[in-house]
Amino acid sequence: MTHKTLTLNTGAAMPLVGFGTYQVTDPAECERAVSAALEAGYRLLDTAQNYGTETPVGKAVRAVGVPREELFITSKVWFRNHKEGECRASVLRSLERLGLDYLDLMLIHWPFGDVYAAWRDLEALYREGVLRAIGVSNFSPDRLIDLINFNEVAPAVNQIETHLYCQQRAARPWLQKYGVAQQAYAPLGQSRINEMFAQPAVQAAAAAHGKTPAQVALRFLVQQGIAVIPKSTHEARIRENIDIFDFALTEDEMAALQALDTADPMIGTADRPARVESSKSWTSREL
Ligand SMILES: NC(=O)c1ccc[n+]([C@@H]2O[C@H](COP(=O)([O-])OP(=O)(O)OC[C@H]3O[C@@H](n4cnc5c(N)ncnc54)[C@H](OP(=O)(O)O)[C@@H]3O)[C@@H](O)[C@H]2O)c1
Repeated sequence: MTHKTLTLNTGAAMPLVGFGTYQVTDPAECERAVSAALEAGYRLLDTAQNYGTETPVGKAVRAVGVPREELFITSKVWFRNHKEGECRASVLRSLERLGLDYLDLMLIHWPFGDVYAAWRDLEALYREGVLRAIGVSNFSPDRLIDLINFNEVAPAVNQIETHLYCQQRAARPWLQKYGVAQQAYAPLGQSRINEMFAQPAVQAAAAAHGKTPAQVALRFLVQQGIAVIPKSTHEARIRENIDIFDFALTEDEMAALQALDTADPMIGTADRPARVESSKSWTSREL
């Protein structure tokens, strides 16, 4: 039930449901939440250099003792490390914090700075087997295609903001055309979660299937082949968010949920000048 996967362009299987760790700033709480997620059956863990969660994720992995080959661990390079050589060094530091000797997936977190220099480092680490797959995050289709056109290894994944209010329907055909898997971040709508869950279409589908609004929101994505990485620090919700493979939304329910799309991201706005401008002053946590 919990290990449904999609196949990446590397041939590797990536779990459709993973566990997010953004904003779990207390390391002890993060370790507890990740341990609960592993106990609940999650096998994909999502961390990033800039979340400050690589160390507690590594501790939880060791504490729970799931065999390494059953896990799929993703991290992300922060854009301050987008320099040739420095990207590689930062990946090695990530591995050290995680206590791992390889990562299943390393992403370019944001398309800022010298992305191409960083990508060449990731390509080399991929060829060496230190990174089993490499990918990007927050890339609009134009940036993604350019990266593919002028490099040797195509990204396996684009992790982008995707939820009921921002369904990425314009980006999807491009991702499919280039064989790049879509992984939804903020799949529960993050700060807009309560407003989203109160939508009549969500409430109706939840009532019809005896499921929660969260399960409907996640099922809506997974049913379209989109991977999801919900975050929670509450055990009951952690279990709830992976329990989405025993029901299917009907065509009418899917259509009603599709109608909630505003195509307006709240976080993944790297294609907007003001966002790119502001990146210069973004602070960095753990590099
Ligand atoms: N690549 C990027 O730039 C990027 C950006 C953002 C996020 N991400 C990744 O994507 C992951 C998920 O995104 P996110 O954490 O921003 O947002 P999210 O998963 O959409 O939403 C998290 C919020 O939903 C609540 N929640 C979780 N399960 C629930 C449930 N069953 N019922 C009711 N409320 C529930 C959580 O509260 P509690 O914790 O209190 O339960 C938390 O407030 C992140 O953790 C991170 O790994 C990546």
